[in-house]
Amino acid sequence: MKKATVEAPANIALIKYWGALDLDEVLPLNPSLSMTLRACATRTTVEPLAGDRDEVWLVAESGAFQDPGEDFAGKVRAQLDRVRSWAGSRQCFRVGTRNSFPSAAGMASSASGFAALTLAAAAALGRADTDRGELSALTRRSGSGSAARSVFGGYVQWPVDPSGEYSAPVAESDHWDLRDVIAVVEEGPKEVSSREGHRRAITSPYFARRLEELVERYVQVQMAIYHRDFAALVPLIEEEAIDLHLIAMSSRPPIFYWNPATLAVHQAVRGLRRDGVPAGFTMDAGANVHVLCEPAAEEETARRLAAVPGVLSVIRDGVGPGPLFDLPHLF
Ligand code: PMV
Repeated sequence: MKKATVEAPANIALIKYWGALDLDEVLPLNPSLSMTLRACATRTTVEPLAGDRDEVWLVAESGAFQDPGEDFAGKVRAQLDRVRSWAGSRQCFRVGTRNSFPSAAGMASSASGFAALTLAAAAALGRADTDRGELSALTRRSGSGSAARSVFGGYVQWPVDPSGEYSAPVAESDHWDLRDVIAVVEEGPKEVSSREGHRRAITSPYFARRLEELVERYVQVQMAIYHRDFAALVPLIEEEAIDLHLIAMSSRPPIFYWNPATLAVHQAVRGLRRDGVPAGFTMDAGANVHVLCEPAAEEETARRLAAVPGVLSVIRDGVGPGPLFDLPHLF
């Protein structure tokens, strides 16, 4: 039993998990493939605690402890229960957590948050050396399937097994230095959770067609990554992002994540390409736009996106090596 700290990054999917075979078991209907980020990350410290109740805190930059509220604390405790039951332990913990990115920026923090929590709790229980695939399956049980991909760095697919439980890297981060310039056009949580989105996906009349087309698109994205072929990657990821939102918009009842600035950013990306700056967008279940590019195009991409009306802030990120251990504790 020891105090442990882990920083796990967020990830952006190039092929999206949307629609579940089993929402309780968090098993997807299609394979997904993401790029693990570097700058947008959650750092979590887990300290063994005497007693029979976990403490959950947000730790401010100043070191001050803030109450995260019962909803958040309840989800953390539920995941600690899963980790305890996996490890055969009854140990309680004090958990402190902090996001490197502004939590009001509307960036999905559940993937980085659950990955950091699961890895730190496993480390606190002396199980840090567990096979990372097994830890990805344990992280997935948090309810956030995409979190299973955040336990690895670089380019990651989930699932890699017929049962749908495990994720694994397809390429390390140094294989291809892709950047992600995130245009934040909406702050705060989305109106409809991704859990609800997964539940409704199969009600879209276009969902079966999506699953058919994904087989080929998935292979094409893998090939583009393998060959570091950015020109091939761009139309594939844009098609995929639009397809995710098409399914959301045609679900019953429909889900609209876009706002007018989302479209303005899409237009700006096409403008960049017209001016010879290679860039392509993708999106999660939200209004914000992730604009991918290679290093030479990052500066101009960030400059142009910041000038788009409705863009509240621009976050510069890129592919990263995955979770970091042995960092200074948060408390
Ligand atoms: O992991 P969840 O349940 O939050 O779902 C993630 C959904 C998307 O971000 C839209 C797609 C993905 O694969 O990350």
